[in-house]
Amino acid sequence: MNKHIKKAQKILIGNRKKGYTLPTNNKLYPAQWNWDSAFIALGYSYFNLNFALKEIKTLLDGQWKDGMIPHILFHNTDTNYYPNHTAWNCGNKIRSSGITQPPILVSILREILDKNKITNIQKKEIKKFIIKIKKSHEWFIKYRDPKKTGLVSILHPWESGYDNSSLWDEPMKKVKIEKNIQYKRADNKVVNPEHRPLNIDYDRYVTIKNDLRKKKYDPKKIFKTALFNVVDIGFNSIFLKANKDLIILLKKFNIDSAKISNYIKITEKSILKFFDKKKETFFSYDLRNKKKIFIPSITNYLILYADIKNSKINNILIKNLKKHNLKEKYFFSSIKPNHQTFEEKRYWRGPVWINCNWFICKGLINKDEKYSKKIKESTIRLVEKKGFHEYYSCKNGKPMGANNFSWSAALYLDLIN
Ligand code: DGY
Repeated sequence: MNKHIKKAQKILIGNRKKGYTLPTNNKLYPAQWNWDSAFIALGYSYFNLNFALKEIKTLLDGQWKDGMIPHILFHNTDTNYYPNHTAWNCGNKIRSSGITQPPILVSILREILDKNKITNIQKKEIKKFIIKIKKSHEWFIKYRDPKKTGLVSILHPWESGYDNSSLWDEPMKKVKIEKNIQYKRADNKVVNPEHRPLNIDYDRYVTIKNDLRKKKYDPKKIFKTALFNVVDIGFNSIFLKANKDLIILLKKFNIDSAKISNYIKITEKSILKFFDKKKETFFSYDLRNKKKIFIPSITNYLILYADIKNSKINNILIKNLKKHNLKEKYFFSSIKPNHQTFEEKRYWRGPVWINCNWFICKGLINKDEKYSKKIKESTIRLVEKKGFHEYYSCKNGKPMGANNFSWSAALYLDLIN
């Protein structure tokens, strides 16, 4: 076995707690994170299917009664993470945050089922997973797209997973920071503050959180009144792909799929309205302030992962993707390096993230296999050379943020297989 595979497995096992896995071992994220857990499950599936299924089960155990799967589950309430379980003050059986994260779980589950032999006992458990995941997708449709436009909103930048991306600069500027706001950040004591969001970003993250909390996370109410309400193209690409994967699993397990099928049809049409022909790019939309968002984020290309059947647009995107960070050494900077908001080291404002490379690599397999392979090989080389970190400089591969990062290890295991 190649030494990097061994190391990746060791990282996942090292970060594993009782039934779930921390994103890293350095105290930056001392809880279970929604999309991290899904990627982690994929990693486990290459050497321990039981751990993969257990990871998913534990995440779904935290589902709220209305169907939402929270973005954080606080299994251990005694940590110095902020905002912690008391700051959120919510949860169902498990204390949690009051927002969600990109719904990649079903796509990961489908990948796992495609590649593994499943016993009858496991099948029964997986059917329960699928029913819960369906409920979470219906939650998105009901509460995050009440007008049935085909596209869902996020109500906090943390829901995107790309927290301080410059995508959110304009909508965030409009969020009036709570008077006398008081909280104590812990993240910037654990890793280099130059690699983390700014204090002013946190002031707004906490302001939005407190507002949601004040409204008791009532999903109908917060959709209408949240301080941040954005239709993000990356998030919706993930959701469209997730709905397509959900249909396949629903059919496989003989569960009704009509509602989701209809929604996909609406999404496929609506999403094309978010393509600007002149600028040759997809944009996101700030629903609260009624403004288009044109920021060259790598997540705008997740539409390739959504697999829309429009080869003309796909080809334009691939042509532009090839220019995204042409001059830099490593694929793909989170924000295009020539943009005024690009920062080489600051979290989602420039660094390379392994999950973004992974999405794009997957999305290109049936569209430009050669390019997909190139991205895959470059990503594998980056991780093997620089280690399993949270993110990397696109200029020289310098590793940043947390080390022993679970999803970098997990997605390496998928890319190398
Ligand atoms: C953090 O704490 O930085 C997380 O990204 C929020 O989900």
